[in-house]
Amino acid sequence: MNRDAKTEREPAMSGAGVGDTFAEILQRRLSRRGLLKGALTASALLMTGAKLLEEEAQASPSVSSLRFKPIHPDASDQVTVPAGYRARPLVRWGDRILPGAPPFDPQEQTAEAQAQQFGYNCDYIGFLPLPLGSERSDRGLLVVNHEYTNPEIMFPNYDPKNPTRGQMDVELAAHGISVVEVQRGEDGQWSVVLDSRFNRRITATTPCSITGPAAGNPWMQTSADPSGTKVAGTLNNCSGGKTPWGTVLSGEENFHQYFAHRSRLAPDSPRARDHQRYGLPEGESERKWERHHSRFHLEIEPNEPFRFGWVVEIDPYDPASTPKKRTALGRFKHEAATIAIAPGGQVALYSGDDERFEYVYKFVTARSYNAKDRLANRDILDEGTLYVAKFKDDGSGEWMPLVYGQGPLTEANGFTSQGDVLIQTRRAADLLGATKMDRPEDIETHPKNGKVYVVMTNNVQRGTAGKAGTDRANPRAQNRHGHIIELTEDNNDYAATAFTWNMFLVCGDPKDETTYFAGFDKSQVSTISCPDNITFDRNGNLWIATDGQEGTLKVNDGLFAVPVEGAERGHLRQFFSSVRGSEVCGPEFTPDNTTLFVAVQHPGEGERSTFEKPVSLWPDGKTPPRPSVVAIQAENGGRIGAA
Ligand code: FEO
Ligand code: CA
Ligand code: CA
Repeated sequence: MNRDAKTEREPAMSGAGVGDTFAEILQRRLSRRGLLKGALTASALLMTGAKLLEEEAQASPSVSSLRFKPIHPDASDQVTVPAGYRARPLVRWGDRILPGAPPFDPQEQTAEAQAQQFGYNCDYIGFLPLPLGSERSDRGLLVVNHEYTNPEIMFPNYDPKNPTRGQMDVELAAHGISVVEVQRGEDGQWSVVLDSRFNRRITATTPCSITGPAAGNPWMQTSADPSGTKVAGTLNNCSGGKTPWGTVLSGEENFHQYFAHRSRLAPDSPRARDHQRYGLPEGESERKWERHHSRFHLEIEPNEPFRFGWVVEIDPYDPASTPKKRTALGRFKHEAATIAIAPGGQVALYSGDDERFEYVYKFVTARSYNAKDRLANRDILDEGTLYVAKFKDDGSGEWMPLVYGQGPLTEANGFTSQGDVLIQTRRAADLLGATKMDRPEDIETHPKNGKVYVVMTNNVQRGTAGKAGTDRANPRAQNRHGHIIELTEDNNDYAATAFTWNMFLVCGDPKDETTYFAGFDKSQVSTISCPDNITFDRNGNLWIATDGQEGTLKVNDGLFAVPVEGAERGHLRQFFSSVRGSEVCGPEFTPDNTTLFVAVQHPGEGERSTFEKPVSLWPDGKTPPRPSVVAIQAENGGRIGAA
């Protein structure tokens, strides 16, 4: 490939076969409805037909708008989509995204090069149309999280016992977030706009500010930052969310793994107890960054970990803006951050703490969202109330406030401010008796019915010796396959403090009697395990990406679609299958739903996988495998799933 070209493209991978064309299906439907009176041009036919089919689906909830033939589970090293669709890698780890960036050279990778190239392990994808405020689906910014690194398949001859300083610095630069302008050309294909002024890398060393009640807290102060308000970079950016004011929220998830030597702190000290609660290693970290970067060494910088585990807000439309860690949203292993505007105007933000037996949280702002003045919302997430969920066995639930001075959150329990409560969110939630869940992952709100869908990925320790037993919200012992809860806020008000809930999916092989597909005929559904990231299409169908099927089902992870309403509620079908060793992230539609962006994260990850002998060679057919964002489109240009 010519890397000096302004745009970079990859060859297409076809769908599994071609059935009826969209035009043929339309012709039949329209003539049945007596609508084909004269000759329509091809494009008029497509536009009229797509609109009619959507109206048909909306008018009659018994008609699903999903029309693709599900694919079979797959364990091969190629991506698969249904007949009539194509999936093409759009941007890969190491692709140049800043002008002047050197071409990717895995034999000689440097931190300087990496900081100008697309990062590793793409997770969250946000598509933000250009220009700001438009609904365009052919030009926009992709904001992509880079969750972590796999040095064993990134570097030739990697020695996990003795990683080099150079390798560590590449990894620091491969973490964080990328902002990349993308456009759809006349030929319908997406490409990166290399000379865009918006393109940006945020890494594990980019200056970020700390805002909200925990800013400046004594536990946030380090030798490099006595003010407790500035931190170098962001780590383990997993999933995220978009705000209505055009910013992106990025969840810092498994930050514990970067820190080392907890055992060198006095075991009964409050700091050491908190580091234990969040799972920081007692000895060396796996990556061993602490050998060359003292901020990761707890004996030297016991407070540095308190500066991670937050939701970071970035403004992709302003490349000079400083990322802000919003402490009012709490400190835990944030899977994602999803925003919904309450009827009263408050901004609600849902976030899961992804670890076994951890909690589901919601934040509600003190102020109201201002749709007319973007700047008025700039710091709206700094003030409000953080809640943690209690799921009751009778199908009701309660959002319990984590407010300093209320209930047990007082000096008697070691809290002296709201900042203390937020830094030690998990301990505060423990004291309130929140419900221990099966690894809360993504949470999304339905665009039409207003309900909130909460994903539990799995928890094999549920009901085992010494661990919490089953309850109705986590109904399966040794839960290998995960489940999805449907939550309804009182009066559909996202600011409510009470809710009701019911089970939507209990995942696994439909032949397994513990599974449940919202009551749909299980002989017709696809097998699914370990749901993780979710999104909705314009028709309100739920799209579910998985992380862990290789371990549970011996097939690659995938992407599935399922109606949540009407006669086909629960009719789950597989749409995409990923490659060996990977999980599926993203997923993100363009506003018109004609493109679906999916992140293939950690292709080639595996116990014995190395750079020299990786378990995947995707996408280039050679080592190293490269985490990449894939653009999926219908061959007829129609809406994804409905074309
Ligand atoms: Fe990074 Fe919970 O997945
Ligand atoms: Ca995830
Ligand atoms: Ca996951």
